[in-house]
Amino acid sequence: MAGPRGKAISMASSSESSLSPPAVPMELHAVNRDKLLNYIRQQLSVCSRPLHGFVFLQGGEERTRYCTDHVELFRQESYFAHLFGVREPGFYGAIDIASGKSILFAPRLPADYAIWLGEIKSLHYLQKRYMVDMVYHTDEIVQVLHDQYNGSGNPLLFLLHGLNTDSNNFSKPAEFEGIEKFEIDLTILHPTLTECRVIKSDLELVLIQFANDISSEAHIQVMRKIGVGMKEYQLESMFLHHIYMYGGCRHCSYTCICATGENSSVLHYGHAAAPNDRTFEDGDMALLDMGAEYHFYGSDITCSFPVNGKFTSDQSLIYNAVLEAHNAVISAMKPEVSWVDMHRLAEKIILGSLKEGCILVGNVDDMMIERLGAVFMPHGLGHFLGIDTHDPGGYLKGMEKLKEPGLRSLRTTRKLLEGMVITVEPGCYFIDALLVPAMKNENTSKFFNHEVIGRFKKFGGVRIESDVLVTANGSKNMTNVPRETWEIEAVMAGEPWPLKKSYCPEMAKEAS
Ligand code: GLY
Ligand code: MN
Ligand code: MN
Repeated sequence: MAGPRGKAISMASSSESSLSPPAVPMELHAVNRDKLLNYIRQQLSVCSRPLHGFVFLQGGEERTRYCTDHVELFRQESYFAHLFGVREPGFYGAIDIASGKSILFAPRLPADYAIWLGEIKSLHYLQKRYMVDMVYHTDEIVQVLHDQYNGSGNPLLFLLHGLNTDSNNFSKPAEFEGIEKFEIDLTILHPTLTECRVIKSDLELVLIQFANDISSEAHIQVMRKIGVGMKEYQLESMFLHHIYMYGGCRHCSYTCICATGENSSVLHYGHAAAPNDRTFEDGDMALLDMGAEYHFYGSDITCSFPVNGKFTSDQSLIYNAVLEAHNAVISAMKPEVSWVDMHRLAEKIILGSLKEGCILVGNVDDMMIERLGAVFMPHGLGHFLGIDTHDPGGYLKGMEKLKEPGLRSLRTTRKLLEGMVITVEPGCYFIDALLVPAMKNENTSKFFNHEVIGRFKKFGGVRIESDVLVTANGSKNMTNVPRETWEIEAVMAGEPWPLKKSYCPEMAKEAS
């Protein structure tokens, strides 16, 4: 990369970053295809169906802004990205179930593409670049698939059709001219490919780890540079700069949430009508939920801390309630543990801490029965993470969502399995829309210390979110940011992260 005076800016030697973007092996997607092939062959064998036909997917299309010619930055459709890793729009992809061969179909680009958008890549180039067996043009789909098919009658296509249980939207099965010359199966591919995405391969984990590393580093840079009087969007800007400058991450996993003061009780603050533009004041908490995406694979990290770098006792009370829940869940995670139990564990710890802090009164088990936890944490404890921030597969076929407040927001109710990556993101928020009715309700009013809770009316909220891999015997936290209050205070005061072994919070207190 050339610097202002023609000097190269070395990413690795920068004082702001110790990271370099890792190479992206296309083998990762070949491994994903092999895994799908094995699963789908097993499925067909179980139903005594012949092992032929094609897995067939349509990649994403480039879109313009409404009726204009402004082209939005393309990001590949996630299932297609998982199997083929293709960055360009307008592709189709097939996997021959009989032979295992992979075929990409590329759009036939007009000659002036080369003038406006760059060289038109040859089919041979695309075949090598994406490590597939064959590449043709999209106008050859019918001919090629008929030629390759070794069954009788019209070739069978397994298309992607199924519900995304987070959005309630359906994936769009592939469409192309001549599709009527094929038999279609809409039932097998979606559940099978979704389940393939739930368990991450080692190659996928390298990319999710990098997305976590660069995002963790960016969060720390933001913590160091924050100051009273700044605006929320400046925090977003610093994060975006860091992940792109040092991580080559052009996309985030989701729109940055940079909430301060009361805004931090708005769970998804930061959309277009809430544009991260508040000026923050001394005594505010910040809740920053920001994650980079690297070659499709994402991260989802939330840090909460006081903008002036020093926790008050009320801020410590709420922060430590959430941190205790976060740490207890991560310590309890291992294969076969129920995610619903983890959600309840987090709620119980938070309610217990609020009772210790005299915000609540009464028996915590009784509070749990009345679902008081959902008043302070209305969202689910976490979700699968991968190519999508809310990665699919949270509900297996036939699993119903729970009905109770809080639990009904869970994006999965499954038991944990080795190789899942799931966010652990407990929170505690003071949201009028939930608190006011709960404080009036005849079943829950008795639990509130009405006087003390008044102090927290404008507090906002705290969320602590890490991305956690389920291992054979436990879990591994892939996120690496300061979490203890004294660690945050030290890093905000300029200490390096990780803190030096010799760092002692007591000595630092005396010195200041
Ligand atoms: N950043 C969105 C979420 O935490 O789920
Ligand atoms: Mn999340
Ligand atoms: Mn998040």
